[in-house]
Amino acid sequence: MIKEGKVYLELSLPSVVSSQMEVFYNPQMRENRDMSLLLLLSLPFERLKVCDPMGASGVRLIRMLLETQKVERAIYNDINHRAVDFFKELVERHGLRDKVEVYQEDACVLLRKLRNLHYVDIDPFGSPVPFLESGILPLARHGVLAVTATDTSVLSGTYPSTCLRRYGSRPLLSAEFYHEVGLRILIKKVVEEGAKSDFSLKPLFSYSYRHYFRVFFQKDVGPKRADLLLESIGFILYCDRCLYREGVSLEGLRTSCPHCHNRLLLSGPLWLGELWDRELVESMWRWKDGLEVSENTLRILRRIREEAGLQTTGFYTISALGKALRIGQPPPMERFLEVFEGVRTHFTGEGFRTPLDHSEVLRRSHELLQRA
Ligand SMILES: C[S@@+](CC[C@H](N)C(=O)[O-])C[C@H]1O[C@@H](n2cnc3c(N)ncnc32)[C@H](O)[C@@H]1O
Ligand SMILES: [Zn+2]
Repeated sequence: MIKEGKVYLELSLPSVVSSQMEVFYNPQMRENRDMSLLLLLSLPFERLKVCDPMGASGVRLIRMLLETQKVERAIYNDINHRAVDFFKELVERHGLRDKVEVYQEDACVLLRKLRNLHYVDIDPFGSPVPFLESGILPLARHGVLAVTATDTSVLSGTYPSTCLRRYGSRPLLSAEFYHEVGLRILIKKVVEEGAKSDFSLKPLFSYSYRHYFRVFFQKDVGPKRADLLLESIGFILYCDRCLYREGVSLEGLRTSCPHCHNRLLLSGPLWLGELWDRELVESMWRWKDGLEVSENTLRILRRIREEAGLQTTGFYTISALGKALRIGQPPPMERFLEVFEGVRTHFTGEGFRTPLDHSEVLRRSHELLQRA
């Protein structure tokens, strides 16, 4: 018996979790599920209708039912009949038959038949792109779309042509914040998918952890709102010599680094707006006390709480600064945070965000590293 939150699962885990498992359950996605519970608890709706259209073991929905007490109706679906049978048994064991609906269909086909959902969770193997449009349509106004992408290497620049084909954007592998770029490309894709049907899908909470990216979006309705969000889509210019970076609109594009005159690299189009709604982050932080969440969930949330207060485009890392300035043994992170008035980022342990502009960062880096 495996226990996650208040759910008991009768499963034997293979030594390597893979999509080949008869019924998919990944204990490493626990944080992903913890976060979705915290999000649901923070939503203003009192009685929720939620759908996990690629439910696998179904642990996510059962946890939502048992641990939030806000879910009135949980719609489960999976194309794999073994997963469906497993879920049905789980429902019986936890006495939840009255609250669930179970389907075995292609996720897109089912989603097209549903309406007025408060929460839809797109959690496939690999890219979420094929499921986005169908996931957005059945959401009620102010409902939330949760998106997981495990094709992070595509989004982050290991396979640029696949990224262009799948997401319509150029990634930026050479930047120290390449994961953030990938996350921003994913957000752009979802915003565009909504906009084409006159919906706004505003990112509320985003993070990168282990092998996946995760973003929660809130849906609203109307062309004006959709247009407004599209204004936050642009490009990132980056200098791989002096680390200069800048978020720009189409009009602001330029080719040479204003700092060292090196040729700039271009990435995008991507989302340049905020990655976190601060009120939501605070609310999720408060709800954690009433839930059984993992230590890692707390760690990510703690970092994001700080990070949400300083939402810059991109961040610096100790090693990239050390390399750009040719310094072997840089001082510890605390010193960087002090000197750059910075905050840590959840993206990497050696990264920090700073409110200072790039020339000031370089000036203070020289001083700091020469003294080190
Ligand atoms: C990553 S798992 C989902 C994990 C689950 N959401 C959780 O939190 O534990 C992906 C699941 O999607 C199912 N699946 C794959 N393609 C599908 C499709 N087109 N429609 C419905 N289910 C699909 C697979 O059988 C698998 O169980
Ligand atoms: Zn430069």
